[in-house]
Amino acid sequence: MEKQLNWGLLSTARINQALIRPLTTSKRTRLLAVASRSLSSAEAYAREWKIPRAHGSYEALLADPEIDVIYNSLPNHLHAEWTIKALQAGKHVLCEKPFALTLADVDAMTRAAQESGKVLAEAFMYRHHALTLKVKEIVDSGALGKIQLIKGAFTFTLNREGDIRLNKEMGGGSVWDVGCYPISYARMIVGTEPLEVFGWQATGESGVDESFYGQMKFAGGIHAQFDSGFKSPFRTLIEIVGTEASLTIPSPFKPDRNAEILLMRGDKAEKIKIKGGMLYMGEVDDMCDAIQHSKAPRVSLADSRANIAAILALVESAQTGKTISL
Ligand SMILES: NC(=O)c1ccc[n+]([C@@H]2O[C@H](COP(=O)([O-])OP(=O)(O)OC[C@H]3O[C@@H](n4cnc5c(N)ncnc54)[C@H](OP(=O)(O)O)[C@@H]3O)[C@@H](O)[C@H]2O)c1
Repeated sequence: MEKQLNWGLLSTARINQALIRPLTTSKRTRLLAVASRSLSSAEAYAREWKIPRAHGSYEALLADPEIDVIYNSLPNHLHAEWTIKALQAGKHVLCEKPFALTLADVDAMTRAAQESGKVLAEAFMYRHHALTLKVKEIVDSGALGKIQLIKGAFTFTLNREGDIRLNKEMGGGSVWDVGCYPISYARMIVGTEPLEVFGWQATGESGVDESFYGQMKFAGGIHAQFDSGFKSPFRTLIEIVGTEASLTIPSPFKPDRNAEILLMRGDKAEKIKIKGGMLYMGEVDDMCDAIQHSKAPRVSLADSRANIAAILALVESAQTGKTISL
């Protein structure tokens, strides 16, 4: 029997709720502790979610000798700092997207992982789902012909006052929060990095982009276009257009257990159904495989770095009005 890995939640972030079920139902993991900046909030959270231990500071969680893996669900501007501290404390780390806000931070996180010998991966949950793996398999099989265009979108209406996504200093903005998904998806499908990018943004009173419209040009004449934003209803999409056929994926980033995609060849449409597991279980299993079986995490640190490089170039383009070469 494999040893159960003890996980600790670094903060009481809302997104934790997506991980609690996988962590408490998997036989490979035990959700042992939660930390918050205040002990009373950690205790209340631990009571609510039946987590055995509550720590009144992030430092206390990192000092807990029984914790093997830290789930870093802090606001974007704290990902690098606390991931590095956790690795230096001898913990493996699953860090939320976007991985960091600068390439220097990604490199420091990568160095900390190498020096500690611990596993570090970005929590892009959609990458592990059977739907994503199937789409990649279809594209790589050549069934669509030569890929021409990838279109993507991720929007939702954000009107929660004080949300971290509307705070510039915390790494807010729609391109960082949800634009990172279609950017990541397009890069995964193409399998190489964009050569040039161009972006437009609509900045709100908050000072962050509340809508973003981006384009990426890859080698071999492949183009990607996406939009992200906080000003439209919840909407996700990926469409992959090849010379022979196109594939429409209505729910690419948060697929449920019974996903459906549409393969269009001329005017013939074929529905393909894909059975998947619990969405957030994939990243938990992937961490366990990496820690216990030395398997390379599915989302490599080089992949995470390239995603941040693309986002930074898109942001620079939107700020300068210029096309940016990578
Ligand atoms: N993969 C996904 O599906 C997904 C979905 C949503 C969000 N995310 C990512 O998860 C991260 C957290 O997002 P969220 O919406 O869950 O955040 P949230 O609910 O606002 O929680 C963030 C937590 O960070 C802690 N924190 C530490 N310093 C803070 C500060 N200065 N201001 C505010 N909070 C601070 C707080 O915990 P304590 O008070 O307990 O210390 C807070 O509860 C982000 O990086 C986001 O991109 C991923």
